Amino acid sequence: MQNLSVKIGSTEKNCPIVIDNCELSALSEDVLKVVGKNNCLAVFSEKVFKLYGNFLKFPKERIFILKDGEKEKTFKTCQKILDKALKLKLTRKDYIIAVGGGVCGDIAGFAASIYMRGIHLIQIPTTLLACVDSSVGGKTGVDTKFGKNLIGSFYQPDCVFINTNFLKTLDERQFKTGLGEVVKYAFIEKNCGCDEDFNLINYLSLNSEKILARNSKILEELIRICVSLKISVVEKDEHEGGLRKILNFGHTYAHAVEKLTNYKKYTHGEAVVKGIEFVFQFAYKRGEILESYKYVAEDLIKKYNFKKIPDFNIKKIISAMKLDKKAESDGIVFILPTDCGSVRELKAVDNEILKYFG
Ligand code: GLY
Repeated sequence: MQNLSVKIGSTEKNCPIVIDNCELSALSEDVLKVVGKNNCLAVFSEKVFKLYGNFLKFPKERIFILKDGEKEKTFKTCQKILDKALKLKLTRKDYIIAVGGGVCGDIAGFAASIYMRGIHLIQIPTTLLACVDSSVGGKTGVDTKFGKNLIGSFYQPDCVFINTNFLKTLDERQFKTGLGEVVKYAFIEKNCGCDEDFNLINYLSLNSEKILARNSKILEELIRICVSLKISVVEKDEHEGGLRKILNFGHTYAHAVEKLTNYKKYTHGEAVVKGIEFVFQFAYKRGEILESYKYVAEDLIKKYNFKKIPDFNIKKIISAMKLDKKAESDGIVFILPTDCGSVRELKAVDNEILKYFG
């Protein structure tokens, strides 16, 4: 078992993060210990409930089942969660518990942040992506017809329980999409300001077979590394005013790919890997990284055999990047690799991108 915690200055909230592979019945006991005498509402993703509902001993009348898929991440569904919480007469002392992947954590987290202006929240991420990214750091939200995550809040959970047993049944594509975010951490490690030196590029390179075989000890360590890096960034910049932007490494291009393919053709992690390849090309063409570092990145990505995404028309990509919620009026912001595990921010105008990719 590994115990980490996030300390956010603005709220003085200390959020423990437990990474474990204990039996799921023991996990729910631990969660219910945190809830104590208070009430709770457990928001389960449907798939997770079918697979694990019997092992996680939450009171049946206190369960909300969230249908699977990003299309459920709406205000309407959030309203249903809030109605259920109201019916159960939850008070501010009570808890919403999110059990599922990123969609579940985001929507349940958002509901928790606005229910009675905020009630307690526990995250139990069940996908690799949610374990290493979305369950930590307090971003919550819903999608609207104008775009993804346009409505939301920063709302830190009281506790995150990560259990690697959930990852055993994750389908290969979902597992790989989580690995896309894991690879991202390797290339930004030195900017995260973490006291511990993980050399994640090396770790991922040396352990690729064990990671792909989902060796539970190695996965636990991998998650610990990624979560430690994320905590280090979020503690310094909760609201993405500066440093937290590095977590968007590869994401500027990735969001454009997802938008151009209506969020249907590729998973988020697949798009992030394509985005990482793009920023490596960009930095190399600008003369900012050595060819040898570009090869290191390409070799690492090859080892994980991510789904190949073809190149898109650059003008279409530029238009889509400009519509992103993180776009700025005087240029498109990229996080570029500079040196092994280091990155920097670059704001580029259309012509500069077209010069190298047109
Ligand atoms: N997923 C990026 C962040 O939490 O900032």
